Amino acid sequence: MSARAIESILKSGKKKYGPEIVGGHWINSKLVRGSQHFRSINSSDHSDIVGSFPTATDGEIEAAIKGAEKAFQKWSKTPAPVRGTFIGRLAGILDREKESLAAIITREIGKPYRESLGEVQEAIDTAHFFQSEGRRLYGQTVPSELPNKELMTYRRPLGVCLMISASNFPFAVPSWKIIPALIAGNAIVWKPSQDAPATALAFALCMNEAGFPDGLIQVIFGDGKSAERALTYVEEGRIQKVSFTGSSAVGRKIGEICGRALQSPSLELGGKNPLIIDKTANLDKAVPAAIVGSYGTAGQRCTSTGNIIIHKDVYDEFRKKFLAAIQKIKIGNPNLDKTVLYGPLFAERYLTNFLNHLNWGKKDGAKLLLKSGRITSKNSYPNFSGDPETGWYVSPALWEGVTPKNRIFQEEVFGPTVSLCKASSTDQAIEWANAHAYGLSSAIFTEVPNVMLQFKENIQAGMSSINNATTGAEAHLPFGGIKASGNGTRESGIWVLDAYTRWHAVNVDLAGKLQLAQMDVDYGRANKPVSFSDWAKRPS
Ligand code: UN1
Repeated sequence: MSARAIESILKSGKKKYGPEIVGGHWINSKLVRGSQHFRSINSSDHSDIVGSFPTATDGEIEAAIKGAEKAFQKWSKTPAPVRGTFIGRLAGILDREKESLAAIITREIGKPYRESLGEVQEAIDTAHFFQSEGRRLYGQTVPSELPNKELMTYRRPLGVCLMISASNFPFAVPSWKIIPALIAGNAIVWKPSQDAPATALAFALCMNEAGFPDGLIQVIFGDGKSAERALTYVEEGRIQKVSFTGSSAVGRKIGEICGRALQSPSLELGGKNPLIIDKTANLDKAVPAAIVGSYGTAGQRCTSTGNIIIHKDVYDEFRKKFLAAIQKIKIGNPNLDKTVLYGPLFAERYLTNFLNHLNWGKKDGAKLLLKSGRITSKNSYPNFSGDPETGWYVSPALWEGVTPKNRIFQEEVFGPTVSLCKASSTDQAIEWANAHAYGLSSAIFTEVPNVMLQFKENIQAGMSSINNATTGAEAHLPFGGIKASGNGTRESGIWVLDAYTRWHAVNVDLAGKLQLAQMDVDYGRANKPVSFSDWAKRPS
């Protein structure tokens, strides 16, 4: 069944954007329509219902977990190179369906089509990377301290993994979790964001086409309460791993639940990512990166730029160029206009937060340099494409006079806003770049190698860009943060394997008799020391 087969499970209508999906959980390779339903609406045009999806009941969660437990038994014993073949098939399917999947993402959450294609590509890259990992999944052979004895390590799968993902990257980020967990031999129960269920179902159908065994990848829909119910299985010992992308507040709660069960979850949380514009920066390179990092995806990336910290010597020039570039930002419905930089906010709670932050900034005493707020027919925005009343569209915000003392410096907004902060020196810029609770991404613009080195060695972040935006990490480097941005786990590349496997240390004694480590080891004996004065007294 292909992603296009989504159309076979929906009742098509008169729709402008596509048919209305009659969705269901994906449990044991079957669509389970469920009983209580919620609607997914097109973020760019609320008159378009993308589909209706069930809210997981206790019985449905139980069925999903039970099916995954069963599938795990067989999949964990399937040789890893064979598991890789399934992942390789998935890569081919995603590649074939790239355009239709991107169209679903753009319709559902309102991300520009080009970015949606990028999301699918990130999943394809991840699948290509982990296909061949099936032929590695290296363990080690280690020398023993005893003769005729072998030591070795194996990566073992964990069991059933619960993946809880966010709306802003509804395709790429789940792929970072699901694909490596599968290659390592685990089974998946995925609770996607309630704002992007159609995208998740389309992904599930692609995985189904790749031929993974029934029950191996279960998808259950619902809101945070459904996730909370699924999390009770951690304490019951029926979920062995939780992977979550979302807010630091929810991440802390999940950390507590997993901690009680002595489990280590993967937590990818918020950010307030600094971009430093040093006095040695090439400003023409820096300005486009500042625009994309701050306002791209309407600021709804964990890696979006939160504060731009500018050396005082180049402050005025940067400010002028940045303001000029902001005037060119085009906003609108990305389904109808492929040239917009950003579309709507993905969810009403992001709108509320964006509007609230306008008050925080005022209370902070910061200066708002643009007329920012919700775009409506009365409160119009000059470069708007489409009808602003159809979605949660907001115009960009830009603050100045901001320092680490301010709330808008400290708190993540998840909207198109950024603060200009004037630093008196490079040292102070780096100090301010660390002066917040988070530590996800970071960036600096400088043409001077020593400043690059100073930044690399002193910045407190999981990811750093030099002469690049804070956003746009590649799919095979470790993704994750420090401080309030996460608990030290990483997604992507070889590093994520530590999140979805446990090390198993094995020793084989072929000596034919019991040999005790530490005790039966012949370490030899040191010779008596010869003092230099004794040596010097000797006749030659
Ligand atoms: C996220 O916002 O959760 O680095 C992920 C980036 C993207 C992924 C962001 N590749 O901006």
